[in-house]
Amino acid sequence: MPPLFEKRILCIGAGYVGGPTMAMIASRCPQYQVTLVDINHEKIAAWQTDELPIYEPGLLRLVQEARGRNLFFSTDIPACIREADIIFVSVNTPTKTFGEGAGKAADLQYWEKTARSILQASQHDKIIVEKSTLPVRTAKAMERILNQSGKKVRFEVLSNPEFLAEGTAVRDLENPDRVLIGSRETDSGLCARQQLVDIYANWVPREKILTSNVWSAELSKLAANAFLAQRISSINSISVLCEQTHADIVEVSRAIGMDRRIGSRFLDASVGFGGSCFKKDILNLVYICEHYGLSEIARYWQSVLLINEYQQNRFVKTMLHEMFNTVAGKRITLFGFAFKKDTGDTRESPGIWIARKLLAERAQVVVTDPQALDNARQELKDALDAVEFEPDPYRAARGAHAVAVITEWDLYRDLAWERVYDSMEKPAFVFDGRNILPHPRLYDIGFSVFPIGRPALRQF
Ligand code: UDX
Ligand code: UDX
Repeated sequence: MPPLFEKRILCIGAGYVGGPTMAMIASRCPQYQVTLVDINHEKIAAWQTDELPIYEPGLLRLVQEARGRNLFFSTDIPACIREADIIFVSVNTPTKTFGEGAGKAADLQYWEKTARSILQASQHDKIIVEKSTLPVRTAKAMERILNQSGKKVRFEVLSNPEFLAEGTAVRDLENPDRVLIGSRETDSGLCARQQLVDIYANWVPREKILTSNVWSAELSKLAANAFLAQRISSINSISVLCEQTHADIVEVSRAIGMDRRIGSRFLDASVGFGGSCFKKDILNLVYICEHYGLSEIARYWQSVLLINEYQQNRFVKTMLHEMFNTVAGKRITLFGFAFKKDTGDTRESPGIWIARKLLAERAQVVVTDPQALDNARQELKDALDAVEFEPDPYRAARGAHAVAVITEWDLYRDLAWERVYDSMEKPAFVFDGRNILPHPRLYDIGFSVFPIGRPALRQF
C-alpha cells in the first residue's frame, strides 16, 4: 500500500510561530502529514480544542480545516521525531538572564536540548529547519552537535526565518512578502533546500521564495527586525520634537511616507514597540557586533532600544506632569495591554512597564483588554492585589482620573466617549499612546487630551 502522506513534517514548539506556520502548511498541503509537538502538555491539549492557546484572527478556521485530516498534535516528542522527514524547530530563544552575555545574548539552551533530543531519537536522515530566530552561525553549531555523534544518521540544517507578525499571522503566511531559505551550498545542502522550496511552492509564487547561504538567512531575520524597530524609534524620536514645536507627527509621517524611497508603513508614532522579537533580536545583533569588536555598530543599534525606553518613560512622565505631579491614590485605566491589536500576547508590552511605573507612584491601576487579560495577570502576578482587571472598558473607566491607550484596538475608537466621560472623575484626562482616538471630539466632550507627537488639547 502506498504511504498515506508524501512527507512527514514535524514542528517542535507549538507557540505563536510554530502553531500558525504548521496550520498554514497543513491547510495548503493536504498531501503532507504535519505534526506539532511541545513540552507544554496543556498547550498541546488546547490546540486540540476550539479554545486555541493563542488568539490570532483566522487561525481557528485554518486549524479546524486541517485538524485530524493531516494536522496532528502530540506530546510524544521522541516518537514524532523518529517518524519525521523534516523537522522545524520553533522553540523559544529568549535573552540570556545569567552568565556571559546576560541581558543581551540569546539563550540557546532550549535549542541545543532540542537538537540533542532529535539526535537521540532519529533512526534515519532528516532535514532540520531553524524557524526560531537565532544568532548568526547557530546552524553551524547545531550541525556539529547533530553530525559529529558517530551515529550513521545525517542531518542537514536549513535556516528558514519566519517573518509573520502577530495579529496578521494568517494573512502573512498566506501571502508572504518573501520566504527565505538558507542552506549550505553543498550537494546535500542544495538538495535539502529544494525540498523546503517544494513545500512552500504549494502556495507561494516561486519568485517570492528566496534562497541564500545559511548565514545570510540567519542575519537577514535579525536585520529585518532591527530595521523595522529602527523605523519606529525614528518616528518616535521625531514625535518628541513635534510636541516641542507644535508640528503634528501624523502630518509629518504622511509627508515623509509618500516618498516611495521611504514608504508609508511602520511610521505610526506610539508609546513604544513591544513584542517578543524586536528587543531580543536587536540585543542579539548588538551582542554579535560587540563579539566582533564593532563597538560603533553595536552602539548604533543599541540606540534604537534607548529611544524606545525613552518613549515609554516619557509617556508616564507626561501623565504625571499633566496630572498635577501626583497620581497617588488616583484610578488610572489602561486601555489595552497587548503589545499590539489583534493579539492576546503581552510579551515586552509597553503596558507592563507603564503599569509598574504607575504602581510605583501609588496609582490605582486598572487594566482592560479584549484578549490579553489572562496574560496581563501573568505579567503583573506579583502585584495582583494592587491592579484591577476588567474586561469591560466602560466599567474599567468608571471613577478613573485618566484613561491611557496602550493598545490600538479598534473598539476604543468607537466607544461612546460621552458615557466614559460622565463616569470619570473630573478633570478627566486621556493619554492616547497610539493616536487612534478622535481627539477634537474628546476635547469637545470635556476631556483634556494628550496624544503622541501632536498638540495637546488642554481644557485649562
Ligand atoms: C519562538 C521564539 O521565541 C522566537 O525567537 C522565534 O523567532 C520563533 O519561535 P514564539 O513562537 O513566539 O517564538 O515563542 P512561544 O510562543 O514561546 O513558543 C515556543 C514554544 O516552544 C513554547 O510553546 C514552548 O513550550 C516550546 N518549547 C520550548 C518546547 O517545546 N521545547 C523546549 O525545549 C522549549
Ligand atoms: C515583528 C515583525 O514585524 C515580524 O516580521 C517578525 O517576524 C516578528 O517581529 P510582531 O512583533 O509580531 O512582528 O509585530 P509588529 O507588527 O512588527 O509590531 C511590533 C511592535 O511595534 C508593536 O508593539 C507595534 O505596536 C509597534 N509598532 C508597529 C509601532 O509602534 N508603530 C508602527 O508603525 C508599527
